[in-house]
Amino acid sequence: MADTAKSATLTIGEQSYDLPIYSPTVGPDVVDIRKLYGQAGVFTYDPGFTSTASCDSTITFIDGDEGVLLHRGYPIDQLASKSHYLEVCYLLMYGELPTAAELEDFENTITRHTMIHEQMHNFFRGFRRDAHPMATMVGVVGAMSAFYHDSTDISDPRQREIASHRLIAKMPTIAAMAYKYSIGQPFVYPRNDLDYAANFLHMCFSVPAEKYEVNPILARAMDRIFTLHADHEQNASTSTVRLASSSGANPFACIAAGIACLWGPAHGGANQACLEMLKEIGSVDRIPEFIARAKDKNDPFRLMGFGHRVYKNRDPRATVMKQSADEVLDLLGVENNPILQVAKELEKQALEDPYFIDKKLFPNVDFYSGIILEAMGFPTSMFTPIFALSRTVGWVSQWKEQLADPQHKIGRPRQLYLGSAQRDYTDIENR
Ligand code: CMC
Repeated sequence: MADTAKSATLTIGEQSYDLPIYSPTVGPDVVDIRKLYGQAGVFTYDPGFTSTASCDSTITFIDGDEGVLLHRGYPIDQLASKSHYLEVCYLLMYGELPTAAELEDFENTITRHTMIHEQMHNFFRGFRRDAHPMATMVGVVGAMSAFYHDSTDISDPRQREIASHRLIAKMPTIAAMAYKYSIGQPFVYPRNDLDYAANFLHMCFSVPAEKYEVNPILARAMDRIFTLHADHEQNASTSTVRLASSSGANPFACIAAGIACLWGPAHGGANQACLEMLKEIGSVDRIPEFIARAKDKNDPFRLMGFGHRVYKNRDPRATVMKQSADEVLDLLGVENNPILQVAKELEKQALEDPYFIDKKLFPNVDFYSGIILEAMGFPTSMFTPIFALSRTVGWVSQWKEQLADPQHKIGRPRQLYLGSAQRDYTDIENR
């Protein structure tokens, strides 16, 4: 944040205040209002943070109007087609693409941290079988702070590193165990000879009674889903992680907070909500009825998997995800699946409808990821846990960046108070 050559002037009554302006590498300038309250005695008002930069960051950049997503400067489509998830994890965490030796070392570290403390199995067994896997994940990830005391000292960079590796490595194991528990099957231990995505499929779909071969096309599609969800700058769950961390909370507690936030249907829960909506629509002839409902101001229904807070052009992740969806559907021969037919036709009709065109509502990444996961055989309740495990590296990278920033301080938004002014307590007999 060096560029203070430009400034803005805010005039309140007779008084003017100069506010420094900073220019980012790319993207809109930001006006620095940190001293505004001290100087002018006013707050700014921005519910939903639509115009507020909460931090500076070097990790991810989004240009929503142009449909651009860059991780450390690299476009997401190049990463999705040329790289793979663990390399992208390294890039997000350390800022540069790894050399072959660095990547091997990183993959080795992650692979050798995939098992969880055996006693944690008891945690899973404490949940009802029908618990949503996200509920289980919030609990179990939060509980990691009770098992890995040697990586909760946030003032120690080495402990921060170990906690980051543990989270990235163990999250697929935790998500797969949450799934296995929900269907009453035995937990499957990770296999170190498989790559990250293949190992996750193995832990979800193999059973001790028979051999399970991971299909490489499905493993590749899984890896792409992980890659495309790896980070997305200061979205709701990442901001939650940063806010939780700003108080000095331990990493496992912060990531558990991120998982809780991601669960909501306006964020990570959209992929599940989208598939449930497709099932509710049920057949192609009912699509116009649901499109009409989405357009009706008096009906709270929205087309799930459409629209985005930042992307007002195509979601670049959705473009890659659509290709993957086509590959997986081709492989599995599910083109006659009614849900997937509804998805294809809904996409077509919405993209031709003036309401969606005018409001720039395009299918987002979750529209296609849900279709792929459904075709792979995951129940809808597993969609958001898969998003959570993919996003863990983003949360962890942003958390590490925040703690390494000497300027970081506790997050404490202000408010526009509209309640009663001070008044005197009334005794109960006088009310
Ligand atoms: N269906 C119908 N109308 C919509 C939709 C939709 N999916 N999304 C937005 N609109 C309308 C909305 O009613 C509003 O209309 P008007 O201007 O007439 O009041 C206008 O478009 C702008 O919507 P908004 O709610 O002000 O926009 P936002 O930026 O606050 O919301 C969103 C973004 C993602 C929450 C919203 O588009 C939505 O609810 N989409 C469905 C849920 C979804 O798919 N979420 C996944 C996002 S991608 C994964 C992630 O990164 O978390």
